[in-house]
Amino acid sequence: MQRFVNRTALVTGAGQGIGFAIAERFAAEGAHVLLADIKESVLIEAEAKLQAAGYSASRYVLDVSNPDQVDETVDRMIEERGAIHILANNAGIAWEEPFVDIKHENWRRMIDVNLNGMFYVAQRVARHMKERGEGAIVNMASTNGLAGEAKYAHYNASKGGIVLLTKTMALELGTAGIRVNAVCPGYIQTPMSEAIDDPAFVENYINNHIPLGRVGKPKDVAGVFAFLASDDAAFIHGECIVVDGGQLA
Ligand SMILES: NC(=O)c1ccc[n+]([C@@H]2O[C@H](COP(=O)([O-])OP(=O)(O)OC[C@H]3O[C@@H](n4cnc5c(N)ncnc54)[C@H](O)[C@@H]3O)[C@@H](O)[C@H]2O)c1
Repeated sequence: MQRFVNRTALVTGAGQGIGFAIAERFAAEGAHVLLADIKESVLIEAEAKLQAAGYSASRYVLDVSNPDQVDETVDRMIEERGAIHILANNAGIAWEEPFVDIKHENWRRMIDVNLNGMFYVAQRVARHMKERGEGAIVNMASTNGLAGEAKYAHYNASKGGIVLLTKTMALELGTAGIRVNAVCPGYIQTPMSEAIDDPAFVENYINNHIPLGRVGKPKDVAGVFAFLASDDAAFIHGECIVVDGGQLA
């Protein structure tokens, strides 16, 4: 499939994990991919991998929680590429912390990156898409935005916020030609989840929580981002698609 020929897709948190898989999928389907990440080392590696595969990609160091940096970087992308047709608003952070122990600075950082950061990027890109009268935005939520998980109050709150941010954006942007949806993955094996959980935890989690009997892979999520960003999803708007191997069932 080549659904994104002559399209430019901005992917945040594109250096590794699910973000890289999304960028790879968009690029494989013909898009030029704007790779944005706070970490330059992973960004350089991601760009090199995509270019070695013959894909079209360029990289931008960006902390999504810094609104001035978001505006400046998105302006530069538009200047260099002419248009952004697709936004995969993916960058996020996570760690465990019991509710009563959450340090205020940790609460603020989680909300700053996962909720405020997605808002800053979505708002700046939506303004540009509105001027052009077309666009597709896919926000990264989580099953943790639909049901709670102990020791993740700050993360759950940030992802629950993304679900309603997505629905509200859909209400306001649809007639401007901009479709907005979200993806709610369950347990996906990435550097993020590997940093939190040891193999024994993961095995136990699979056995007790995931009816498909395995954890998800980044490409399981990337395919859904590509679907939602494509014309195959032309009438899907304000939706949150769960990608969790049956966990919430
Ligand atoms: N892994 C899972 O099980 C899972 C499940 C549901 C949702 N998610 C969500 O998917 C997204 C990607 O997660 P992942 O597992 O691939 O994580 P990851 O840590 O493997 O990758 C996240 C990427 O985002 C970048 N990033 C972090 N803070 C940033 C910032 N302030 N500005 C720009 N880039 C930043 C990191 O450098 C990294 O490259 C996150 O929003 C996460 O909450 C993950």
